[in-house]
Amino acid sequence: DTTLGALGQRSGVRIGTAVDMAALADDAPYRAKAASEFSSVTPENVMKWEVVEPSRGRYDWKEADKLVDFARANGQLVRGHTLLWHNQLPSWLTTGDFTADELRAILRKHITDEARHFKGRIWQWDVVNEAFNDDGTLRDSIWLRKLGPGYIADAFRWAHAADPKAKLFINDYNIEGVNAKSTALHDLVVKLRKQHVPIDGVGIQGHLSVQYNAPHDIAENMKRFDALGLETAITEADVRVPMPSDSTEQEAQAEGYDVLLRGCLLTRKCTDFTVWGFTDKYSWVPGTFEGEGAANLYDENYRAKPAYSALRDDL
Ligand code: XIL
Repeated sequence: DTTLGALGQRSGVRIGTAVDMAALADDAPYRAKAASEFSSVTPENVMKWEVVEPSRGRYDWKEADKLVDFARANGQLVRGHTLLWHNQLPSWLTTGDFTADELRAILRKHITDEARHFKGRIWQWDVVNEAFNDDGTLRDSIWLRKLGPGYIADAFRWAHAADPKAKLFINDYNIEGVNAKSTALHDLVVKLRKQHVPIDGVGIQGHLSVQYNAPHDIAENMKRFDALGLETAITEADVRVPMPSDSTEQEAQAEGYDVLLRGCLLTRKCTDFTVWGFTDKYSWVPGTFEGEGAANLYDENYRAKPAYSALRDDL
């Protein structure tokens, strides 16, 4: 029986999953599926700043290295996630009272050290994550407040200097369709390219809910990035449903996954379709979206749901 990863190969699209390192260590069926079904992996948490540098100047690459080794052993590519975000920052950083110059030096060192540590082992880096608000303005974060909007270009330049072969992505949510946020991101990328900033791709997270319409204009949106010569990827697909879920909602969920994958397949340089976890047994959704859950391809007993068949049928 062939796998999503093998099917994706025919269209030149890697089919990936986010990996939860605790589940990978403790749960053999989880490990088996993560190894066999997917052709790329993304660390769900272990490359984030709070994990790799919990106290200032003391790095801990252990869990992230484990995932990179797992990927290599299974012939998978790694999406690095993420070098620069406003969430999951270590407290020494968020509570420290740094000047703009100090903060800039801290950020430069973080990006340089992390990209260098994994040099040659990361296929695509989510260099900048969630920099925009839904209205298309830049998100108010310590980065924007203290460093100004130029922090984005700097991050790409530093990452490229540290690992010249990695493909560098900007990643965000609510940018599946054509809207104020995806348009602002598009305009930023046009500007960055004009300034020869080394940016290679746009990551569309793809966190959907059956309570909202599926983004049927996703291909139109992705093709405008394609037209700039950029790669694209669906980086964090999941489709949550109100709990408890019924079969109608599971069908709607399958449609959500289908819309996301077809957007990718219709876009020439869409190179990866990653789900944000594959089993309802481990998912960030119930802890984040009150009353919603069951967002993944397999249920908590690793039985494939309609969404899984929908992806297979597309490939
Ligand atoms: C989430 C993880 O899934 C959770 O385990 C963690 O507690 C919080 O972060 N957008 C992103 C991801 O870019 O990094 C987030 O991952 C989900 C939303």
